[in-house]
Amino acid sequence: MKHLHLLSLAACLLWLTGCQQDKKQVTSPDGVTTITFSLSEKGQPCWEVCKNGNAIILTSPLGFNLDNANLSENFQITDTQRDCKDEIWQQPWGEEVDVRNQYNELCISLRQKQSGMPLILVFRAFNDGVAFRYEFPDYADNPSFRIMEELTEYRFANDAKVWWIPWNVKYYESLWTRTPLSQLTDTVSSPITLELSDGTYIFLHEANLTDYAAQNLSPVAGETTLRTMLTPWSDGTKVYAQWGTTVSPWRFLTLADNLNQLVNSRIMLNLNEPCRIEDTSWIQPLKYIGIWWGMHMESFTWCQGPKHGATTANTMRYIDFAAEHNIQGVLVEGWNYGWDGDWSANGDNFSFTRPYPDYDIEQLATYANAKGVKIIGHNETGGSTVNYENQLDSAFAFFNRYGIADVKTGYVNDVLDGKELHKSQYGVRHYRKVIETAAKYHITIDNHEPVMPTGLQRTYPNLVSQEGVRGAEWDAWSTDGGSPAEHMCVLPFTRGLAGPTDFTFGTFSFSNPVYPQTRVHSTLAKQLALYVVIYSPLQMASDLPEHYENQPAFRFIEDVPVDWQQTIVPDGKIGDFVVTARQDKYSEDWYIGAITDENPRELDINLDFLPQGNTYMAQIYRDAPDADWDTNPYPIIIEEVLLQSGDTWHVHLAAGGGCALRLIPQP
Ligand code: NOJ
Ligand code: CA
Repeated sequence: MKHLHLLSLAACLLWLTGCQQDKKQVTSPDGVTTITFSLSEKGQPCWEVCKNGNAIILTSPLGFNLDNANLSENFQITDTQRDCKDEIWQQPWGEEVDVRNQYNELCISLRQKQSGMPLILVFRAFNDGVAFRYEFPDYADNPSFRIMEELTEYRFANDAKVWWIPWNVKYYESLWTRTPLSQLTDTVSSPITLELSDGTYIFLHEANLTDYAAQNLSPVAGETTLRTMLTPWSDGTKVYAQWGTTVSPWRFLTLADNLNQLVNSRIMLNLNEPCRIEDTSWIQPLKYIGIWWGMHMESFTWCQGPKHGATTANTMRYIDFAAEHNIQGVLVEGWNYGWDGDWSANGDNFSFTRPYPDYDIEQLATYANAKGVKIIGHNETGGSTVNYENQLDSAFAFFNRYGIADVKTGYVNDVLDGKELHKSQYGVRHYRKVIETAAKYHITIDNHEPVMPTGLQRTYPNLVSQEGVRGAEWDAWSTDGGSPAEHMCVLPFTRGLAGPTDFTFGTFSFSNPVYPQTRVHSTLAKQLALYVVIYSPLQMASDLPEHYENQPAFRFIEDVPVDWQQTIVPDGKIGDFVVTARQDKYSEDWYIGAITDENPRELDINLDFLPQGNTYMAQIYRDAPDADWDTNPYPIIIEEVLLQSGDTWHVHLAAGGGCALRLIPQP
């Protein structure tokens, strides 16, 4: 460790001497965090970050390799502009309503001495972190060029624990690994989360990924440096760009003193453009069940035949259950032609306007409407974006005709259209086209197999949720036995910070007839807690309706909201346990979810975040003393207790367990 400190000090001095000239700084409104821009002796743009006088990012190079030029050295500053902002905007849905966007900005215009090529760097210092992006101003007569490499580096001043997933795992559906930054050997996906030895948490990601390639991060052997590695097209190009229009996504680091600050940072949303949908009243958060788990457990099929799940009668049964249990939506997968045969191998088969003959969409639309339930449409593309784009308008017009306003999309295939990666610029362009087209038809999108979210829901709040996570389906069929209990204790501080996560929990039956060795690694009480701990404005109760019938614990799923006034994380440790409290957007009720990893835990939850002097009736769902995810997942104690703000409430969490509370203020 000492060795490393010396190394980073040496690296720092080296870079300081190399980067002395033309220093410009911008400091956060609270004066705590400073970004320094400099040009090295070779004229390479560099940035560094310090907080409270401590270096976070040492002087680190910036720039690009283009197809016909190196846009990295020989720069001089041609202009410097400053700006600042302090505004509050409202989210149509979210973990909290009011968002403060407060920052100081420094904009540096550069020009390369010989070539005359320009480059603009915009830095923003927030109280809770830092960000910058590149802009390519007007330049050549022929504005087209290709970015072959983005040279952004993050030279961390100190080693840290880092949570990461590999860059090339399909759809980001991987377990998260913790490694010392200095020992990282794999290229990892953005985002990552770091914990420094002084307790600082850093979330490193990108915001507003528009017509660009998703960022990955490559380690430099033995150092605490990460280099941007943009996701390539199949021809090796990273980004097809245009002088005058191309801007990179924002590269940002959230800097938090504790997990509550980390979860409550809104830097990513603030770095996205304001909402482009004038009237958002048609975008409604909801809970849903679906003809879904049955397919993953192999009791139904997506394709037509004797086990077809999406039949008229079966869908009616789901609609009935939803209507009786305060569930607003019913997802129906496998309703349309294209699933017969090996569907994932040939996405071109999918028709998005032809229902199977045993699915009477007209009758179901009328039935659902009469019952006050929304059918959620499904468009699995098998990764054929060309086939989907050819039908996009007719697909959404078709859903409009039947009052279907929410659509889950999917892209199961190694690559899109036989060649491009999901998170390449090619994929990014497609996903954006779907979101924008859906907005025109007043349709919300829940995107599976997406590119990692980057906060676009601020601009397009019809992008309500996304997968991009190893979700519940893996606990149906994964040959490794299912996701370990700690997975859910990592997600709120990693993938969850990138945006709403359609994980689809809600398991009430823990036996798996097809793969008996594969299971949800959770107790029943923990399944309830996840509705508070993992955020999405769209939450699924994923189990079969028959497994919910006559289950007193299902009451919590009926009650729990999906839209919040405010969010607090009173306690937690990444990968070990999480306590999350949220206030309902439409009442004074609070909800608390606490979960643990494979270790049982005694927790004392301090209720001092509740408004002072209030007494609450707490409806509690907690693990019984003999509960254990592995040997005894079902036992749950449901009880009502009076609790007051300021109380410390003690609870036992079983191995792989949890607890869920609804707190109703008493007069
Ligand atoms: C993968 C999705 O994540 C899952 O939810 C869906 O059921 C299948 N693809 C089929 O579209
Ligand atoms: Ca998936």
